[in-house]
Amino acid sequence: MAGAAPSEQSPSRSGVFSKPADPLTLAFSQSIAFDKALYRHDIAGSLAHAQMLHKVGLLKKSEEEAIRKGLKAILAEIEAGRFDFREEFEDIHMNVEKALEARIGPAAGKLHTARSRNDQVALDERLWLRDEIDRCRAMLTAVQEALLRRAEEYAADVMPGYTHLQRAQPVTCGHYLLAFVEMLERDKDRLAETRRRANVLPLGACALAGTSLPIDREYVAELLGFDGVTRNSMDTTGDRDHLVDFAYAMALSMVHLSRLAEDFILYASAEFGWLRIDDAWCTGSSIMPQKRNPDLLELIRGKTGRAVGTLNHLLVMLKGLPMTYNRDCQEDKELLFDTTKQYQSCLEVLSKLLDNLSFDRQKMAAACEGGYMDATALAEFLVQRGIPFRQAHHAAGQLVRVAAEKGKRLSELSIGELKQIHALLNEEARSVLGAKGVVAAYASAGSPNPKMVRREIQAWKKRLAQATRKAK
Ligand code: ARG
Repeated sequence: MAGAAPSEQSPSRSGVFSKPADPLTLAFSQSIAFDKALYRHDIAGSLAHAQMLHKVGLLKKSEEEAIRKGLKAILAEIEAGRFDFREEFEDIHMNVEKALEARIGPAAGKLHTARSRNDQVALDERLWLRDEIDRCRAMLTAVQEALLRRAEEYAADVMPGYTHLQRAQPVTCGHYLLAFVEMLERDKDRLAETRRRANVLPLGACALAGTSLPIDREYVAELLGFDGVTRNSMDTTGDRDHLVDFAYAMALSMVHLSRLAEDFILYASAEFGWLRIDDAWCTGSSIMPQKRNPDLLELIRGKTGRAVGTLNHLLVMLKGLPMTYNRDCQEDKELLFDTTKQYQSCLEVLSKLLDNLSFDRQKMAAACEGGYMDATALAEFLVQRGIPFRQAHHAAGQLVRVAAEKGKRLSELSIGELKQIHALLNEEARSVLGAKGVVAAYASAGSPNPKMVRREIQAWKKRLAQATRKAK
């Protein structure tokens, strides 16, 4: 018995098959449900490919024109939501090819000359990656800008800095916020590096071995804005390194966002009470009327698992693949697409949330009163007077013990009490005590001194404005 009419079958079912695919074969192997997200990139790649085929004489002018018009009409149809994506055509590549055939007839059959879906999907993914990286980087800049606005507002306000989650030394809130600006800048660098490495054209590798046809890969690379062409056809069709790079860059960036979320959740608790999130950006409880929950931050923290999982998935997916393309590679998309969407929504939410919260200066300053966070400053006072640091460190520790026993702060100890521990501790020593004095005394580059924080904020503003101008 003859199979289904060719037009109802996937273009990949050649004459070798004696019957149509079983419905379960189709349902299990289709990727259209998720790779339709690549439609724009697939069509852009085909337009460039057709232009090249015409240039080298493999397509007539009229054929190239028909293909171009047809592809543009299909693009418009998809964007208008009128395109009928069909599972029996498996993926975005063959859905577009079949739609083109329906529009322009047999000339559509020439588009796949000197091309395989193996290099086609590799191309689509690289084009997709470039767009997504550009979007992520712009969104990271928006979060950095929001952080800078808050840093400027709280540049000189003291807060406890922690190590081991124990009060350590006073810092400024501006400096604390700038720490996240730094992390996000490294995230942007990693993304830019990923984009740079990915920006070579895979098309022309064909299935695995290139082609005997006289194609011009450099020309296609130029048309699509690539920096060059990949150099080994076998490597090219099985290469997903850039997707792993991207997954890693997102996973680590999510870890940064998660750490911020964790801090802010703690700081918004009654136990800290340093942070208040605007009502419109909090959620309530269905039973406890008093609750104002920081769910958005918790979701950012929670979604980090997906990003880390995606990285793990891709690495495991790739580890056992024999040389060149294997269908396993189709499994590179769903999680990565989802993680990209989730990551970008986290960045969007965070940039808005940062404009809708406030720090409580008084409570942060009050938290600096306890915990003897000025003990290091006292030790450094002695060091400046020639005392070896170890001795100074010991003396300041003794003072903390004495003060704690008496229920006093270091600044409340009398000169007599100070001198009992070390003869060089005089009235002047008391001036280095207290959080405001401590932060104003920090002198090393990169420390929380409010003067340095203000300088850093200005430098960041300039740097981000420059980067934004360059991106446009
Ligand atoms: N949907 C496939 C993927 O995402 C396209 C490539 C299929 N190639 C093949 N020879 N079956 O990887």
